[in-house]
Amino acid sequence: MNMERISRRFLMITMSVLVIISLLVHQTRGLNIEGQYLLDIKSKLVDKFNNLADWNSTDSTPCGWIAVTCNTLDYNDDPVVWSLDLNSMNLSGWLSPSIGGLVHLTSLDLSSNELSRNIPKKIGNCLSLEVLTLNNNRFEANIPKELGKLSCLRILNIYNNRLSGPIPEEIGNLASLSQLVAYSNNISGSLPAISWEP
Ligand SMILES: *[C@@H]1O[C@H](CO)[C@@H](O)[C@H](O)[C@H]1NC(C)=O
Ligand SMILES: *[C@@H]1O[C@H](CO)[C@@H](O)[C@H](O)[C@H]1NC(C)=O
Ligand SMILES: *[C@@H]1O[C@H](CO)[C@@H](O)[C@H](O)[C@H]1NC(C)=O
Repeated sequence: MNMERISRRFLMITMSVLVIISLLVHQTRGLNIEGQYLLDIKSKLVDKFNNLADWNSTDSTPCGWIAVTCNTLDYNDDPVVWSLDLNSMNLSGWLSPSIGGLVHLTSLDLSSNELSRNIPKKIGNCLSLEVLTLNNNRFEANIPKELGKLSCLRILNIYNNRLSGPIPEEIGNLASLSQLVAYSNNISGSLPAISWEP
C-alpha cells in the first residue's frame, strides 16, 4: 500500500517535470534561422538612429521587423525573407557574411548608407537575388566574382563606392542582367563582354 502510494507520487512528479521541460523547450525554440542571420547582420552594423530597434530576438520570425518583407513559398509553410530594404538608414559598419544565409532573398537594398569593408563573397549564395543595390556606400576592395553566380540578377548598382580592381568576368555571364551601374569607384580594366538580350 505504502509502496504503491510512493510510486504513484513518483509517477506524478516525473510527469510534471516532463510537462515543464516540454513547455520550456517549446518556448525557447525561439527565432527562426533567417531571423538569426538577420540579427547577426545587425550586430555588424552601427545603427546610430536606432532604426532597427524592433529587430527583437524574442520574435519567432523576422517577418514583422522594419525593412524585412517575407513571403510563403508553396512548397514550404514557413515564411521566408523575400526582401531587405535598408536604404538611407544612416547605417555604418559592414555587411556580415551571414547575408549568404538568406537564400530566398530576391531584393537587397543597402544603398545610401556608410557601409565599408568588402562586399562579402557569401552574397553569391543568395541565388534568388534579382535586385542588388549597394550604391552610395564606402564598400572597398575587389568586386567578388561570386556575384557571377546570381543567375536571376536583373539590376546591379554598385556606383559611388570605393571598390577597386576589375569588374569580374563572371558578371558577363549573367544572362538576366539588364542594368549594371558602377561609376565613381576605382575600377580598372574594361567591362566584361555581356551578352545582352535582343
Ligand atoms: C522584445 O520583445 C519583448 C516581448 O515583447 C519585450 O519585452 C522586449 O522589451 C523587447 N526587446 C527589445 C530590445 O525591444
Ligand atoms: C539620417 O541622418 C540625417 C542627418 O543626421 C537625419 O536628418 C535623418 O533623419 C536620418 N534618417 C534616418 C532614417 O535615420
Ligand atoms: C585606385 O587604384 C589604384 C591602383 O589600382 C591605386 O593606386 C589608388 O591608390 C586607388 N585609389 C583609391 C582612391 O583607392
